[in-house]
Amino acid sequence: MAPKPQPITATTRYAAVYGHPVKHSASPAMHNAAMAEMGLNWRYLAFDVDPADLRAAIAGARQMKFIGLNLTVPHKLLAIDMMDELDPSAETYGAVNTVLFEGRTQSGDWAPLRSCDPGEVRETRSRGFNTDAFGITRSLREDLGMKVHDTVLVLGAGGAARAAILRLAGDCVRELYLVNRTLAKAEQIGREIRARFPGIEVRLGYPANRVDLVLNATSLGLKPSDPLPYDPAQFSFKNCGAAYDMIYQPVETPFLKEAAGVGCRIANGLGMLLYQGAKALEIWAGVPAPVEVMRRALKEHIYGENKTA
Ligand code: ATR
Repeated sequence: MAPKPQPITATTRYAAVYGHPVKHSASPAMHNAAMAEMGLNWRYLAFDVDPADLRAAIAGARQMKFIGLNLTVPHKLLAIDMMDELDPSAETYGAVNTVLFEGRTQSGDWAPLRSCDPGEVRETRSRGFNTDAFGITRSLREDLGMKVHDTVLVLGAGGAARAAILRLAGDCVRELYLVNRTLAKAEQIGREIRARFPGIEVRLGYPANRVDLVLNATSLGLKPSDPLPYDPAQFSFKNCGAAYDMIYQPVETPFLKEAAGVGCRIANGLGMLLYQGAKALEIWAGVPAPVEVMRRALKEHIYGENKTA
């Protein structure tokens, strides 16, 4: 049986997600299950924060000695300029999805607020991280068994696509194909990859030959009426090893159904959500997160208890 959370007392510590909107966030379910499992007297909350109030809301959490924050749409890019310190992960991807609050100790050093007595801390600061990009590569490894992707086709060129492309480029890709409705955005990412990773072949458009992985980073598939995120006249999954959809609701988008129909390995974005969350919790807590407890909590929250992803 899942352990019960400790009762809320005057020593309970808090973390939260800020988004706008935020009411559909699955993060509270995932993190509160993990915090209970870890025996922490912590709670994870969700707040709808208007982008105009983001700076004040981050300062408020810091002043109230929260352990940390997650930031989701539309705050990730804005927050880059609102941090006192940036971890290299946030600098690399140009976005912050995890904030760690730190306090100045008696010796003058900075330490995560989890290890500080809130009554003793005089000075606090924020440190921004990005765990999204880590989440995608861990999910590809764990959920699709993929470590190396020789050739990858990425559909989309928004914020999520950019982080995934940069991470894949830094990790394990030889050849990248980029497709997006707005060509200029794919061109921009292409230029960035060529400049940062000159060893990688970047091409705009669909591949003529086999690809190891197709990644859907567009929002097409969220609504039942959405068209496929690729042009079936120009691309077929018959030439593809695996397909990953960043969307996790529905469990199997039409994109994934098409891929599975011709025998491709498939995975949806639940793993990405899970592993970015596990990494954030590890940053706050300083110990490994209970990933399977978090996965169960996410599936229960998103798909209901009797369904599986
Ligand atoms: P996120 O932060 O989730 O990446 P985003 O930055 O708004 O969100 O990016 C959404 C992606 O889905 C973009 O690649 C977008 O294409 P454009 O760059 O042309 O806007 C893509 N997308 C959204 N709606 C689309 C549609 N109806 N047809 C094709 N692509 C679409």
